[in-house]
Amino acid sequence: MNKRNIILDCDPGHDDAIAIMLAGKSDLINLLGITVVGGNQTLEKTGRNTLNLCQYLDIDVPVCLGSANPLVKILEVCPQIHGESGLDGFDFPDLTIDYHNQNGINFIVETILKSKEKVTVVTTGPMTNLALAIRLEPKIMDNIDEVLLMGGSYTNGNVTPAAEFNIYSDPEAAFIVFNSGLPVKMFGLDVTRKVMVYESVIERMEKLNNKASLLFSKLMKVFNENQYRTFGLEAGPLHDPLPIAYLLDESVVELSWVHCDIDISRGDSYGRTNCDIFDYMKLPKNTFVATKVDVNKYWDIIEQGIKNYN
Ligand code: BDR
Ligand code: CA
Repeated sequence: MNKRNIILDCDPGHDDAIAIMLAGKSDLINLLGITVVGGNQTLEKTGRNTLNLCQYLDIDVPVCLGSANPLVKILEVCPQIHGESGLDGFDFPDLTIDYHNQNGINFIVETILKSKEKVTVVTTGPMTNLALAIRLEPKIMDNIDEVLLMGGSYTNGNVTPAAEFNIYSDPEAAFIVFNSGLPVKMFGLDVTRKVMVYESVIERMEKLNNKASLLFSKLMKVFNENQYRTFGLEAGPLHDPLPIAYLLDESVVELSWVHCDIDISRGDSYGRTNCDIFDYMKLPKNTFVATKVDVNKYWDIIEQGIKNYN
């Protein structure tokens, strides 16, 4: 089977870390590079976390720094969930690798333009880098097969009642991507809130006893503590690996084809992904939205992803 060419754009982040782990070693994914954005923490920190993860997991791909800030808004980081470092809970060895010497937005443009096969862009942070790449060189859209994103919600948000963190962090960027005409698949809180990293999940992964399982268990313990303190949740929702899991096995979610608008009005619903699930408005459809997730299948995929590091 042909491997899918992907660029992963992220802001690690505990759940981004597991998305990187899943994409970094797979027979089905050709990871062309990782671009980083300011989001869960400042770009300096999310960038360093990405290098640390790649070095520790031996993932040898270009890592490029993209945008430090959202297009219009002021960056609001999330230390309450991801800690001051953006990835609290794991002691990485000293860094000996460095960034690829190219800005992340230019990397996205150049990599997509020169790829012989179409590229899938997966975003697990604010969508700033992809929006800037589209504006910089719209021709890239001819060579993108689809955009998969963790973000949004057609039910409740997690920053405001209306908005989810990644979209809320840069609503204008999401607006550009959702209205670009590119096929967009949205994996939002509606499904990611169902994949909770209960203690039993951590114990299951710990048994695999390799470097990826150690990373998983240490990070998820801190993630859960922070989710409990912040939201009172019994376990944290493991959001970001879901679009990668979908690339590995599409049957892990069910999708609905809907019209979706990003609210950039700066009112109470600023940053909401308004998905017309019931097609009230009869507007042109532009987004596949994940509406169901097979939780057992998801943990099987994560388990296999960890085993790939044996
Ligand atoms: C999203 O917000 C971030 O804190 C996580 O990394 C995830 O991408 C969930 O709302
Ligand atoms: Ca993220």
